[in-house]
Amino acid sequence: MPSVEASGLRREFKAKDAPVVALDGVTLKVGQGEVFGVLGPNGAGKTTMIRILSTLLLPTGGWAKVMGHDVEHEPEKVRKVINMASGAEKAGYDFISAKRNLWFFSQLYGIPSEKAEKKIAELSETLGLTKYLDRKFYALSTGYRQRATIARAFVNDPRVVFLDEPTIGLDVMTARSIREFLQGEARRNGRTIILASHNMAEVDAICDRVAIIDKGRILAEGTPEELKRSLGVPALVMEVSPPREGFETLSRIAGVKGFTSSTEEERGLCTVQVVVENDAAARAAEDAIRSEGLKVVASWRKQATLEEVFVALVGQGFKEREEEGAG
Ligand SMILES: Nc1ncnc2c1ncn2[C@@H]1O[C@H](COP(=O)(O)OP(=O)(O)OP(=O)(O)O)[C@@H](O)[C@H]1O
Ligand SMILES: [Mg+2]
Repeated sequence: MPSVEASGLRREFKAKDAPVVALDGVTLKVGQGEVFGVLGPNGAGKTTMIRILSTLLLPTGGWAKVMGHDVEHEPEKVRKVINMASGAEKAGYDFISAKRNLWFFSQLYGIPSEKAEKKIAELSETLGLTKYLDRKFYALSTGYRQRATIARAFVNDPRVVFLDEPTIGLDVMTARSIREFLQGEARRNGRTIILASHNMAEVDAICDRVAIIDKGRILAEGTPEELKRSLGVPALVMEVSPPREGFETLSRIAGVKGFTSSTEEERGLCTVQVVVENDAAARAAEDAIRSEGLKVVASWRKQATLEEVFVALVGQGFKEREEEGAG
C-alpha cells in the first residue's frame, strides 16, 4: 500500500473573473519511508496540494488517500497518522516556552504524559533544541523557532509528514541539520515525508523522488538522478597532459557522440569534453587517451543540475504563458 496516493486531484478557487485552477489533475504514489519532493515556482500549487493531502482543504475533483484513508471521506483517520508544518507560518504560542508549546501540541494528540515528555526530550536532542527549551517562543531566533516547529511535526510519531518549505529563511548549517534530521526520520523510522520546496539543492540532497509541478500539473517526476539524466546526454571531461590537438580516435569509439578540446597553455594541459551515450563509452574514451601515451591528469563526469532541469521544464511553461498572453 502506498503511503500517499492521489489520482486526478483537482482544486479550483472561485475568483472574480474566471475560477483559478490551483491543481489540475495531479496523480502520484509515494511509498513508505520515501522523502518525496514537490518542486515548483510561486503559485504552482504546492501548498494547495499539501493542504489537501493533510485534510485542511477539500479537493474539487479526483481523490487522494493517506495510509489507505480517503482525505475527503475519512479525514479523522488521516489526521491520526499525519502531521504537517509550514516554514512560512508562525507555529507556536509566543508567551509560553518552546517546551510548553511542544507539550501543548502533544496533548492535542492525547499522548500520555510520560511518553510525551520522552518524545519531546528525544526530538529536542536530535534537533539541537535542548538548551533552548525553556525560552519563550517569541524569544527564539528564527532558526530555533523553526527547529521547534519541526519537532512539533514529529511529536505524534506520524507515519506521513507534510512539510511546506521547512528550511525557508534558515542559515546553511541550520538548514543542513534539519535536512539530516528529516532524512534520519525517513530512513530509521520509516516515516514518509512530503516536502514542498523552492530549494533545488535541498531537494536534490534529500529527496528520493521529486515531482516538478507548474500551473497545477506535474511536468516531470523521478529520482533526482533520473530527472537530471532526462535532460540530455552526460559528458566526460578530461584534463590531458601534455596539450596537443587531434583526438580523432575518440570519434571511432562506439557510444561516443562527439567531442571538443581546448588548450590551456598556462596550466600545460588541454581539456577534452566527450559526449557519451553510456559509462562504457566514457571508460573507452579515457583508455584511448592513455593508450596514446598521454596522461589523464583529472577526469570527471558532467551532468545537468536539478536547477537546469527545472529551468528547462518550467522555462518552457513561461514561454507558453507569454505566447498565450500575446495571443
Ligand atoms: N484560498 C485561495 N483562494 C483563491 N486562490 C487561491 C487560494 N489559495 C491558492 N490560490 C491560488 O492557487 C494557485 C496555487 O497556489 P499555491 O499557494 O498552492 O502555490 P504554491 O506552489 O504553494 O506557491 P508558493 O511557492 O508561492 O508558495 C495560485 O494561483 C494561488 O493564487
Ligand atoms: Mg506555497
